[in-house]
Amino acid sequence: MILPIYTYGNAVLRKVAEPITVDYPELSTLITNMFETMYHAEGVGLAAPQVGLPIRILVIDLAPFKEDDPELGAFKVAMINPTMLEKSAAEVSGEEGCLSIPGVHETVLRAEVIKIKYFDIDFNEHIEEFQGYKAHVVQHEYDHLEGHLFTDRVTPIRRQLLKSRLTNIVKGKTSCSYKVKKA
Ligand code: NI
Repeated sequence: MILPIYTYGNAVLRKVAEPITVDYPELSTLITNMFETMYHAEGVGLAAPQVGLPIRILVIDLAPFKEDDPELGAFKVAMINPTMLEKSAAEVSGEEGCLSIPGVHETVLRAEVIKIKYFDIDFNEHIEEFQGYKAHVVQHEYDHLEGHLFTDRVTPIRRQLLKSRLTNIVKGKTSCSYKVKKA
């Protein structure tokens, strides 16, 4: 089922998301719906707050990159209750967008290498290290669980320039190809 994506200005995007317990109702349905919602909106990552749920779940599928980079394209994951364990001091920049902030793309600096702990859908624990674009996307989605958005991480000058576009999204003056829940 395709869920509406909550856009910039909705309070849920600014909450620190809560961990879920093993008995969270219909977890697999929720994760299936999150993937379906993300594919429909042509995104490569989605966090639960973006569908209005302040809980610690994120999904990523980098399949659109498979022709350019098969290893990257094979990266598909659902992370439950992730915890960032380490971030390298070295940073790399990359262009980002967000399904909750339609039409905005900005360059963001992120740690080059990260180590993260998470649980899969069967609640098996994983501790993994990611680098490059994978690390970039994981950090973007993880930020959603901490109530941060990529537009918080641009330079003050860029943020100033973005202000009116963000205000327009808050006011609901935005159009996109997928179903949204406006603020
Ligand atoms: Ni996002």
